[in-house]
Amino acid sequence: DNKIQIALLGLGTVGTGVYKVLESQKEEMLPKLGVELEVKKILVRNLEKAAAKVDRSLLTNNWQEIVEDEEIDIVIEVMGGMEPARTYMLEALRAGKNVVTANKDLIATDGKTLMDAAKEAQRDFFFEASVAGGIPIIRPLKQSLEGNHISEIVGIVNGTTNFILTKMTEENMEFDEALALATKLGYAEADPTADIEGLDAARKIAILASIAFNSRVTFSDVYTEGITKVTARDIRYAGEMGCVIKLVGVARSTQTGIEVSVHPMLIDSRHPLASVNDSYNAVFVHGDAVGDTMFYGRGAGELPTASAVVGDVFDIAKNMLYHCTGHVNCTCYKTIPVKKMDD
Ligand code: NDP
Ligand code: HSE
Repeated sequence: DNKIQIALLGLGTVGTGVYKVLESQKEEMLPKLGVELEVKKILVRNLEKAAAKVDRSLLTNNWQEIVEDEEIDIVIEVMGGMEPARTYMLEALRAGKNVVTANKDLIATDGKTLMDAAKEAQRDFFFEASVAGGIPIIRPLKQSLEGNHISEIVGIVNGTTNFILTKMTEENMEFDEALALATKLGYAEADPTADIEGLDAARKIAILASIAFNSRVTFSDVYTEGITKVTARDIRYAGEMGCVIKLVGVARSTQTGIEVSVHPMLIDSRHPLASVNDSYNAVFVHGDAVGDTMFYGRGAGELPTASAVVGDVFDIAKNMLYHCTGHVNCTCYKTIPVKKMDD
């Protein structure tokens, strides 16, 4: 059969984007992949709300209908939150389905459980969209840069806070107004506290550090400070010094262990990170062979995030065709100690 069937869990900002991108690729799938991808079911809570976006026959609020459907080979989790997302993904893997997720909350705290389950089930488990939205960063770290010893990652990895700081700096916008706009544009988390307190960036830097340093770095290892204490006056003083304020995540592999932190940072206006504005993200990676590399693009929002999710889905489709599923984005095999930065 020339068709791979998919279930989408969630039809919010990202889920709607994924559905649109898959629809827009319909004509090209067969020549590109040798197979067609079809969304068979979409899980939501509120059926009426979702029926305004897609054909009603696609919708369900019954997870069993999806997990017990043997025709569904790929499950895309874009509901967010810890539960029931974690249970659904574990059940999907154990039922022989491949899984894609954008859920950094879960990956940064309990990703290992999911990756172990995927390896045991010999299924793919990918999460490119969990860090920096549409920017390819997880796969390059895991594949193209794997021949390096990576010593440092420095990045702007939260679109909402970068949007807020940009608006406060360039348009003198109030913090609350900028946050409301970021929420309206679909950048912010369901609970934006995760963005403005730096928690979302901390989750992302933990995921990147785990992959780059082949170690297990979790959310609780990250020293975290958000942007809620940054005032208009701080931004004005920074400008007078020829600097801008950015929320920056840093992960370093040192002689004595891994250091991971997220905090507002003064950045010289001539530095490349200073011109990363609005919802854009940028990640610097230093490797011993490659030297400095920088990845830049849209870090949040409907279509940029969907781009990363659909890329993972296409990879799974290719692996399925070659009967070689069982890949995960991270191995986490070394145990380099993680230093507590707030000690
Ligand atoms: P939204 O809040 O916009 O959408 C969540 C969707 O999931 C809604 O359709 C909701 O249905 C559904 N849902 C939530 N809980 C359940 C449940 N228990 N059962 C069934 N359906 C459920 O979130 P986003 O699309 O913004 O984010 C989704 C995920 O992607 C999160 O993990 C987020 O961190 C991540 N992400 C988001 C990015 C962004 O730019 N927004 C970028 C990168 C990652 P209903 O409306 O019926 O309640
Ligand atoms: N809330 C997140 C952000 C979404 O603003 O970066 C992308 O992960």
